[in-house]
Amino acid sequence: MKIGIDKMAFATTDEYIDLRELARKRGDEPDKYTIGIGQDRQAVVPPTQDIVTLGATAAKKLLSQDDKKHLSTVIVATESGIDNSKASAIYIKHLLGLDDFTRAVELKEACYSATAGIQFAKGLVAMNPQSTVLVIAADIARYGLKTPGEVTQGAGAVAMLISAVPHILALEDTTVSYTKDVMDFWRPLYATEAHVDGKYSTNVYVDFFLQCWQRYQQMTGRQLDDFAALTFHLPFTKMGKKALEALLKDNQSLVADKMREQLTASQKYCREVGNLYTGSLYLGVMSLLQNGQVNPGDRIGLFSYGSGAEGEFYSGILQPHFEKYLSDVKDDLANRHQVSIAEYEKQFNSQLGMNPDDVELDWQSDPAPFILKGQKEHKRIYQEKK
Ligand code: HMG
Repeated sequence: MKIGIDKMAFATTDEYIDLRELARKRGDEPDKYTIGIGQDRQAVVPPTQDIVTLGATAAKKLLSQDDKKHLSTVIVATESGIDNSKASAIYIKHLLGLDDFTRAVELKEACYSATAGIQFAKGLVAMNPQSTVLVIAADIARYGLKTPGEVTQGAGAVAMLISAVPHILALEDTTVSYTKDVMDFWRPLYATEAHVDGKYSTNVYVDFFLQCWQRYQQMTGRQLDDFAALTFHLPFTKMGKKALEALLKDNQSLVADKMREQLTASQKYCREVGNLYTGSLYLGVMSLLQNGQVNPGDRIGLFSYGSGAEGEFYSGILQPHFEKYLSDVKDDLANRHQVSIAEYEKQFNSQLGMNPDDVELDWQSDPAPFILKGQKEHKRIYQEKK
């Protein structure tokens, strides 16, 4: 039985900042941000958006009425949870108008958990091939104003339908996961921003990628030229380059050059929105499929990484007409509007976060289909805009 990714859709906020402008404000060389880190723009999150609204918006783009009938489970992968107890998947299930006979849970392991969600979904579909599972990777990456991590923030959600009739990517059986107790990035319960040992985290990431790749090769006998492209978790685009180059080691062969070109195609959207945490690898896959040289029958490699730390390398085969089953990311990115650095800083400091007070947000101007209206008696109030 083929099981895999049937449809994919992406959502981000309506606003962004230009990172050259941020660099100038922070007294840094703009080239450090655009070349050294490899980011051009960054999503700005208005207080009326969070992982629930972003996740619901992405999912709404891909679910037809017929899809809704077959859904057994909604899995939301996130590390930007809005509640320590209740799953964000329940709010999203409600906003999407899904049947009450649906399972809804939230998964956490830093940026990695969407991959766990996909693997778990594969098992659920194998047990009941008539059913499908909706996996939503939704996050807001926050490091804090004027921190080294600031340039690697971002926000957005990728929704994926997992089914036994996968129109995008049929997943192959071999998958390698690798876990170690590492303190490279974490967020204590009392913090709204991540703590990070930045340079160390990039070294752990590369090490985990090489460990997973080597084990995958031993298990399958496959070489680089068995792949049309490798895709990576992209906390910032340079990170993917560091991982790929650690594998290629100055290799100038045709295969190596092809991998470099495909990597550039997979990085295009990340350059525009920044780190999506759980969704970054999957936005990279969408970027490859919409900007790279790929054809049905091609094998794609996926490297997922979450700090703490866990890595997984797995692969899938592209399906005929895969391009019809992806939302139009280029259009979404082109329709956003730029805000000033002062406006971004104001929005950054206006998130509901850990504030327990009742708040009514100015939500009328937010054009998103789902909005967070505020908080009353410690409950978040969401609404679909008609
Ligand atoms: P930094 O110290 O500001 O930057 O932090 P730097 O001084 O290392 O410079 C960055 C690069 O820019 C360097 O290139 C410089 O040479 C270059 P590299 O040596 O790395 O190839 N550079 C320039 N290039 C061109 N023109 C110039 C120029 N100046 C310098 N003028 C750091 C960078 C990434 C550490 C920081 O932004 C950070 O801490 N980010 C957050 C952590 C992160 O993203 N880690 C990635 C791996 S961990 C991961 O992926 C998991 C994660 O997504 C979380 C999760 O799992 O939940 C983060």
